[in-house]
Amino acid sequence: MQQLEYKGRVIKESFFNRKNINKYEAIFTQGNGYIGIRNSLEEHYVGEIRDTFITGTFNKASEDEVSELPNIADMSAVKIIIDGTEFSLTEGEITFYERSLDLSTGESLRNIVWKSPSGVRVELSFRRFVSLYNEHLFVQKVDLLCDSDVDIIIESGIDGSVTNSGAMHFEDIKRRVYEGKYMEYISRTTQSKVSVVQDAVCRLNKEAAVIPVMGRRTLANKYSLKLKANEKLEFEKRSVFFSTRDKELTVFLEDDRLEEAKKRALKLIIDIENTEYSELFKSSESVWKEYLKKSEIIVGTDDEYVKTAINFALYHLRIMVKADDNRVGIGAKALSGEGYKGHSFWDTELFILPYFTYTHPEIARTLLEYRYHNLYGARLKAKEHGYEGAMYPWECAWVDDGEVTPLYMGADIVTGEITKIWTGLIEHHITADIVYAIDHYYKVTNDIDYMENYGYEIIFEAALFWASRLEYIEDRDRYEIRDVIGPDEYKEHVDNNAYTNYMAAYTMKLALKNQDYLKNNNRKIYDALDLKLDIDYIKELIEKKLPKLYLPMPDKDGIIPQSDTFLQLKKLDISKYKNAEAVLGIYNDYNTKQLNEYMVSKQSDTVMLLYLFRDLFDYETRKKNFVFYEDKTLHDSSLSKSTHAVLANEFKFEEMAYKLFKGAISVDLGPNMKSSDEGIHSASIGGIWAIYVLGFGGVNIDKNGLNINPRLPKEWSFLEFPLIYKGSSLRVRIEKDNKVSIKKLQGNSVEIYIKGEKQLIK
Ligand code: BGC
Repeated sequence: MQQLEYKGRVIKESFFNRKNINKYEAIFTQGNGYIGIRNSLEEHYVGEIRDTFITGTFNKASEDEVSELPNIADMSAVKIIIDGTEFSLTEGEITFYERSLDLSTGESLRNIVWKSPSGVRVELSFRRFVSLYNEHLFVQKVDLLCDSDVDIIIESGIDGSVTNSGAMHFEDIKRRVYEGKYMEYISRTTQSKVSVVQDAVCRLNKEAAVIPVMGRRTLANKYSLKLKANEKLEFEKRSVFFSTRDKELTVFLEDDRLEEAKKRALKLIIDIENTEYSELFKSSESVWKEYLKKSEIIVGTDDEYVKTAINFALYHLRIMVKADDNRVGIGAKALSGEGYKGHSFWDTELFILPYFTYTHPEIARTLLEYRYHNLYGARLKAKEHGYEGAMYPWECAWVDDGEVTPLYMGADIVTGEITKIWTGLIEHHITADIVYAIDHYYKVTNDIDYMENYGYEIIFEAALFWASRLEYIEDRDRYEIRDVIGPDEYKEHVDNNAYTNYMAAYTMKLALKNQDYLKNNNRKIYDALDLKLDIDYIKELIEKKLPKLYLPMPDKDGIIPQSDTFLQLKKLDISKYKNAEAVLGIYNDYNTKQLNEYMVSKQSDTVMLLYLFRDLFDYETRKKNFVFYEDKTLHDSSLSKSTHAVLANEFKFEEMAYKLFKGAISVDLGPNMKSSDEGIHSASIGGIWAIYVLGFGGVNIDKNGLNINPRLPKEWSFLEFPLIYKGSSLRVRIEKDNKVSIKKLQGNSVEIYIKGEKQLIK
């Protein structure tokens, strides 16, 4: 029987299997960008990964470890004891089970009929949501009904004994239950000294005896009562979260923030104590509605999976971002798991940001402001490596942490030793990826204010880094970029990775263009930047080196070499790994050193270049290279398939495009029950949106501006999506024959190209 059911706006788990709990914890994660709570079940199970995160609370568990997003005390567990037997689905008998997440409201629901080992028939219903209306709030409701008179105990509270896979990030500061009901737990991160305040209150629809229970790092309230046969017990819990890193507390002196957080938590819990679950839910639901009104994508298809996938993406894209806080980025697993330690990668700029740029530009701006604040760490990293300008960390955590990529991880299959991670040291392309995202954001939004305050400075500093990074190779009389990792992480220490070299060149060219533009058209900004950065020096350096930067060209067969050695590597039959359900299987047979010797790619690399720059090579060359590299790409990174799907569609490989599309939407949502244990894949989720809108919808920015050149799959009868272009809000509809109609909902008239033809949208 199929475990997952897809109902458009709702995903369902149709039966319980303890082995699959991690998948549902991750894909059913609830949140609002400030908090993220994995959907672990109310009752505990062996193997659960019960995580709650508050964005930005990064901490180092020890000197040798890097900053990571700590798992804060759990508030979601509810222990239910019926006539002395603790409710657990691994005991007794499950007569009915259904669990779902509504992607349009953020509420999850679990309905169960359970026969306890002593024969009591129990109907249980669990509901919960994290509020989008009040980002500090998480609410749960349990309804329970038994077919005989029973004694019930319900115990729930705050459990600070959680860790990040064993690493303890907090010290216990204070625990108390005051006025017999309000539970308060205060903890503080061990190194970054961020205090977290968590308050909770429970209420029942029946009188119950209450006693507080405290253990080491835990506190709870225990309710005991007698329940008559067929009488419904309603238990509700409200949990609130604050931290001294919260944006709204930055107006207070550091020493006063904890007191303020405590005050606010207590006030909130008292304010909402008597508000019905349904009321609290309604206010969150209406914010979800507002969000979806601006984001909704409708596909003309009967395939519920395809409809669900885009709703799944829109849901997670909303809960992964702290929309109004430019001090935090989006983690590779967002707030849904411990994977990648909450760190941000190029995933944000090239895979997630396009959604926000085209649909919620104000959020895209916040994310790009985060990169401005990262300049501090980027300058530091450049200096440490002996370069100038800003060299962005491959992995970013708190705004000024600098590089946080771990140095070692995973076992080497050949040597049995721990493997060294080189990405933080030599995966440099991120410094150009961020620039690409800024340039793209500006082209779509025309947000000159962002450019003047942040964008130009990042571009000049990034360009300076690249100019200083180039190596002059005397016998070839040219500049090269040696010893890097390109996007394809199966190739380490390569020279002249085509993606990296072209992206570096693009960054430097953009800096020259901006220098020229600002000098002649915006003297005020130019002078201000020049004072800070010495733009003339940057210009001179670029002008000296850029013309001699080696840019790999197609060889005699028309193939652009991914790096100097790629085309000479040994061939490998990769079908076994390519057809496997799980990714990274190749690591069971080869270690990183061996992988370097084969013509096999982890993910889109040269193809990524063809995707970002459609006019770099002619159509036939692009197509030929796509075919060549697709054949050698394992898609072992979740970032990869969406890019290949978009290009396969562009090159009219319809079947392949649809297959890659289905693969891309299945990374988290598909039937593989192990793919998301460590959290959802946020870039892949951004990639889902990209295939619908940039791929099948054909939205692209070219030299003229916005061009829409769609190619709908034969399976779809229409596609409708929103776009915000230069401040004007549009609704685009594409028919089966790829005819495009655009409705302007708000803003001024805009010029758009439809299949290359200019149109004024009035
Ligand atoms: C990929 C990177 C990606 C990272 C985080 C890695 O497996 O190779 O491209 O940035 O995961 O998602």
